[in-house]
Amino acid sequence: QDELFKKLVAHCKEYGFIFPSSEIYDGLGAVYDYGQNGVELKNNIKRYWWDSMVKLHENIVGIDAAIFMHPRTWEASGHVSAFNDPLIDNKDSKKRYRADVLIEEWIAKQDEKIEKEVEKARKRFGESFDEEKYRATSPRVAETAARRDEVHARFAEAMNANDLGGLRQIILDCEIACPISGTRNWTEVRQFNLMFSTQMGSTAEGANTIYLRPETAQGIFVNFLNVQKTGRMKLPFGIAQIGKAFRNEIVARQFIFRMREFEQMEMQFFVRPGEEMKWWNQWKETRMAWHRALGFGDDQYRFHDHEKLAHYANAATDIEYNFPFGFKEVEGIHSRTDFDLGNHQKFSGKKMQYFDPETGESYVPYVVETSIGVDRMVLQVLSAAYREEQLENGESRVVLAFPPALAPVKVAVMPLVKKDGLPDVAQRIIDQLKYDFNVVYDEKDSIGKRYRRQDAVGTPFCVTVDHQTLEDGTVTVRHRDTMQQERVAIDDLYRMVDDEVSY
Ligand code: GAP
Repeated sequence: QDELFKKLVAHCKEYGFIFPSSEIYDGLGAVYDYGQNGVELKNNIKRYWWDSMVKLHENIVGIDAAIFMHPRTWEASGHVSAFNDPLIDNKDSKKRYRADVLIEEWIAKQDEKIEKEVEKARKRFGESFDEEKYRATSPRVAETAARRDEVHARFAEAMNANDLGGLRQIILDCEIACPISGTRNWTEVRQFNLMFSTQMGSTAEGANTIYLRPETAQGIFVNFLNVQKTGRMKLPFGIAQIGKAFRNEIVARQFIFRMREFEQMEMQFFVRPGEEMKWWNQWKETRMAWHRALGFGDDQYRFHDHEKLAHYANAATDIEYNFPFGFKEVEGIHSRTDFDLGNHQKFSGKKMQYFDPETGESYVPYVVETSIGVDRMVLQVLSAAYREEQLENGESRVVLAFPPALAPVKVAVMPLVKKDGLPDVAQRIIDQLKYDFNVVYDEKDSIGKRYRRQDAVGTPFCVTVDHQTLEDGTVTVRHRDTMQQERVAIDDLYRMVDDEVSY
């Protein structure tokens, strides 16, 4: 799986999807650029989300708030005091780690140990192996599981209580060593705030520190009444937004899974107090259905309820996808109560209340949010679409089997040869399609090579113009997944592509 992931990362670079940021200067940690195909894929994902949220729901509208916000925003939201990671340094390697991640990895290792024991026993006992019984009765498995459970419980307790000393003690008790130096010479654990800051303008008193937003949600909260009043919105209603967010992540790895500059697609749904659980459950189902509608396999997704809740939530679940490196979060669905609007009311001195015409009361609404990382969704789609196939003729191909609606390029138009007027016909076909679909022209190399190139970027249709086209106005259409070819009239192309790529 590791090998597969490495190949995917290399493929993304080779085919113009994702490049390391400022690569000529050796890149910048956990920051990436999207290339010509990556940006199309990303835009299609954003459109798929925006349409399903804003277009299809009469009671959801969109906004686009600024990245910079008044610094008091982040005091009210709790990010200044609570948006922290617990960090620990190894005194020998001088490397910095997230204490919680070190412990989570240790816990995961115990699971691996147990699975190894079970595998060994399976080999030893052969046919007669009773796995369930072995797991329940093997002293070695029981011992490891008991230790894992004990550490897990202590870990959850320390995280919930923000007990930094407790986290350090777990690291010492579990004899967790630095992956670089191999020693256990650890510092104290301290809190590290994840927000980036910068200075805005300069005043007589000195510069004003402002933050790059670590979530887009706050731009929605501070505009709650602007939108509600100008849009005459009635509860329940939602505000959606797509935009950049920034976090000074310490453990930044796995490519675009965890970045320092990334994009979020968030929707805050404002509801009557007391109705938040109903809506939380409903949005869980709606969002899961959105993911599964892409057709990558229902069993590739699962819910994971949070044990440790973020500082604003009273219930939270993740939708996880089965990445090449295991099931990991793609989207969070959080019940944020009246935490944000209530605090903004307190910090700004402005009323953040809704007058409910049905009950005649005014109150601060409760909020259920759905929050998904655009880049993480890009990685999810790329991981699911990437395939290496052995063909019947002994060759192999790499194909990105994107759902057609998300594919960066919808149609590649190719003249069989560069003469006899075939390029002109190809250009006329492009002119018919290009206003509604992303279309490319390719006349270089053999047709076989050109097909492979399009497979590698996930183009659903290749259209070849040949001499027969000049006689009867038909072209060869080659389908990406089946590699089947058929003759289609030029006049029918638009309808065929449209049928396939719309959702
Ligand atoms: N407004 C709520 C919020 O921001 P979160 O769980 O911290 O909640 C929501 O983030 C989503 O944003 C995550 O599920 C993930 O998809 C994405 N995300 C968060 N941090 C990220 C990072 N460093 N790099 C890429 N995506 C990230």
